[in-house]
Amino acid sequence: MPESPIRKLAPFAEAAKFQGKTVYHLNIGQPDIQTPPQAIEAVRKADLDILAYSPSDGFPSYKKALAEYYGQHGLDIQADDLLVTTGGSEAILFTLNSISDPGDEIIVPEPFYANYNGFGISAGVNVVPVTARIEDDFSLPPTAEFEKLIGPNTRAIMICNPGNPTGYLYTQEELEQLRSICLEHDLFLIADEVYREFAYDGAVHHSILSLEGLEEHAIVIDSVSKRYSMCGARIGCMISRNNALMATALKYAQARLSPPTMAQIAAEAALKTDAAYYRSVREEYRQRRDLLVDGMQSIDGVLCPRPKGAFYAVAQLPVDNAERFAQWLLSAFSHEGKTIMIAPAEGFYATPGMGLNQVRLAYVLEKPKLEESVAILKKALGEYPGGLL
Ligand SMILES: Cc1ncc(COP(=O)(O)O)c(C=O)c1O
Repeated sequence: MPESPIRKLAPFAEAAKFQGKTVYHLNIGQPDIQTPPQAIEAVRKADLDILAYSPSDGFPSYKKALAEYYGQHGLDIQADDLLVTTGGSEAILFTLNSISDPGDEIIVPEPFYANYNGFGISAGVNVVPVTARIEDDFSLPPTAEFEKLIGPNTRAIMICNPGNPTGYLYTQEELEQLRSICLEHDLFLIADEVYREFAYDGAVHHSILSLEGLEEHAIVIDSVSKRYSMCGARIGCMISRNNALMATALKYAQARLSPPTMAQIAAEAALKTDAAYYRSVREEYRQRRDLLVDGMQSIDGVLCPRPKGAFYAVAQLPVDNAERFAQWLLSAFSHEGKTIMIAPAEGFYATPGMGLNQVRLAYVLEKPKLEESVAILKKALGEYPGGLL
C-alpha cells in the first residue's frame, strides 16, 4: 500500500509544533465549515434503546430521501439505484471490486485523488494514468490519449468531478467525450462527485447520471463528508441504474454488514439543509479561492490555474523538488513563528517523475490565515536555499 502523500509529512509538522511553531495546514481537505445544526441535533435527539445494525444497503427512509435529493438536482434516481456506504471511500472500493477481476485496469486522469491507488491495490485493479496538464488547467486529455491506453483488461474510466486535487470542473462537452469513449469500448464510467456542491463563478456541475445512453455504464460515488462538512459521519453512497452491478455491490455491502446507524440519522437530517447554507458556504470558498489563487499568481515563477470547483488548487513552484521544499518549510523555516504545511503533488500522479515541482493547496482555512499562508510561502520561496529553479 502506498503512503498517503497528504499525511506523510505529518511527523515533520508535529516536530515543528513541538518546537513552538504555528503550522497552517493547507495540506488536508478537512473543512472548517460548521455542520448543519439539524444534523447534530438529530443525533442528540435520537431516542434509541439499541444501537442496532441498519440494513446493508442503508435505511429505507434515508435512501428514499436521498433519491429525492438527486431528483431536486434533475436526476431521475430511484431508491433501488442507491447503496449507502461507509463514506465515499467504501463506495469506491465496492465499485472497483464489483466491476473487475484481479489484473483488470481502470484509466484515471492524473493528477488524481491519491487514495484511488490504495483502493486499486485493495481491489487488485491497476490504475492506469492519462496525464492532464497544468498548462491546460487540467482539462480532459484528448480522446486519442485514452484510446492509446484501452486494452482487453480495461474495465472503466474514472474521473473526479470537480477534481481533487485540481479543482477542475468538467464541461458538458468533456463528459460527452467520455460517454462516446465508454460506449464505443463498453467501459464503465465512474465519477467521484463528492464535491458536486462546490462549483463557483456560476458554473454548473454536470453529473454523469444525466448523460443519456449511459444508464448501464455510469456509476457515481457520493458522500456527505464535504457537502455538509460531516467527514466524521462516514456516510457515502454508490449510485448506478445498472441492476446487475448493484446486486453485486450489495454482496460486498452484506459482507461488511451495515453502514453506520447513528450517522445515517444525521445524514438524513442534513438532507433538509436549505439552499441558503450552500449559497453561503460556496461564497465563502469562492472568496478563499480567489484570495489563494490571486496570491499565488502574484509570486514570481508560480503557475496556479484558478479552479472552478472543490476546495483545492494545484500550483507549480519554482523549486526542483516540492517534497523537499515542503519538508524544509516544516523543519527549517518559520516567519514570525509560523509556517505552512503543503501536500507535494507527486503522490497524486501515477506516472513516475510527474508533478515533482507541484503542490496541492487546500483552502479550508479562514481568510486571514490563508492570506498569511500565502505571505509565508512567498517569503519562504525567497529564502529557500536548495534546489530553486
Ligand atoms: C475525491 C474524493 N473522493 C472520496 C473521498 C472520500 O471521502 P469520504 O470517505 O469521507 O466520503 C475524498 C475525501 O477527501 C475525496 O477527496
